[in-house]
Amino acid sequence: MEEVTLNAAENSARKKRLYSAVQPTNALTIGNYIGAIRNMVAMQDEYDCLFAIANMHAITVRQVPAELRKNTLAMLALYMACGLSPERCTLYVQSHVPCHAELAWVLNTFTYVGEMERMTQFKDKSAKHADNINMGLMDYPVLMAADILLYNADVVPVGVDQRQHLEITRDIAVRFNNIYSPTFVVPEGVYPKVGAKVGDLLDPTKKMSKSSENTAGTVFMSDDKDTVIRKFRRAVTDSDSEVRYNPEEKPGVSNLLSIYTAFSGKSIEEAEREFAGRGYGDFKLAVGEVVADRLAPVQKEQARLLADKEYLNSVLKEGAARAYKIASGTLSKVYRKIGFYQL
Ligand code: TRP
Repeated sequence: MEEVTLNAAENSARKKRLYSAVQPTNALTIGNYIGAIRNMVAMQDEYDCLFAIANMHAITVRQVPAELRKNTLAMLALYMACGLSPERCTLYVQSHVPCHAELAWVLNTFTYVGEMERMTQFKDKSAKHADNINMGLMDYPVLMAADILLYNADVVPVGVDQRQHLEITRDIAVRFNNIYSPTFVVPEGVYPKVGAKVGDLLDPTKKMSKSSENTAGTVFMSDDKDTVIRKFRRAVTDSDSEVRYNPEEKPGVSNLLSIYTAFSGKSIEEAEREFAGRGYGDFKLAVGEVVADRLAPVQKEQARLLADKEYLNSVLKEGAARAYKIASGTLSKVYRKIGFYQL
């Protein structure tokens, strides 16, 4: 058989498309790194990847404008510093591609108020922001559906907290396809494996979260070495002294072992052997060091990128142009199907 060489464009046309987005709010934790960023970096060649910074979702709760602006670039620089490359995937800001708002409006007419009222995250956020239960908060899942469906994404990696939003995206896609004709790809959600979740260092049965009251149990991507070492030194373990993986009986030690293996690339068995007969003090210091030593170059690269705003802007411009090309094609198809007069 004849050998066929594909150029980059042809090759990417054959890859499955992956779409994900992150809100430019707050600091990311090493839990986000292990659970999401690391996987995205690993998947960027296997899939045709688009990653958006979801600033339109962010404003569904009140933001400080200067911070939102600053966090947008900081998030881009962090993702790039972790290894997402603008040459290998499309990185862009949601509001730079107007099609998101436009498709969301159309999809609103295929989504029922009752469905949105029943969304768990809407109910949670309504309770948390009782003084600002705005329409955008309720419409959040429809905007997310627009994000995903605009790009005909095959796979969408998200946390389990977003599962319901992915399900409604699929429902909306099927609904539209059934009323008209096949238009949208019905996306598959990809959820992190059970056990991939990083626990809080002080309460390991709880998820490590940027919003827990006590940040001593949360390691941020921006923490310096001293802070990282201190947080790990105070991490809870248990009363025996054996470094052994057993999430039920030894949640603290097991959590530290997971973090250690994720950051060192070693297996659990290797790590258990490495620390056999050594105390928890040694072990916790080693975990702190491997994490801090991985974060340092990421932070340095993030700072270097942030000092070159012109370059970051060019990345976003290029990303938005690439995204727009795909999104506007889908939107135009939708407009045609629903009967919008087009010039
Ligand atoms: N709602 C997602 C979150 O908070 C972010 C997001 C917005 C998203 N649009 C998306 C994720 C599209 C996946 C696909 O995590």
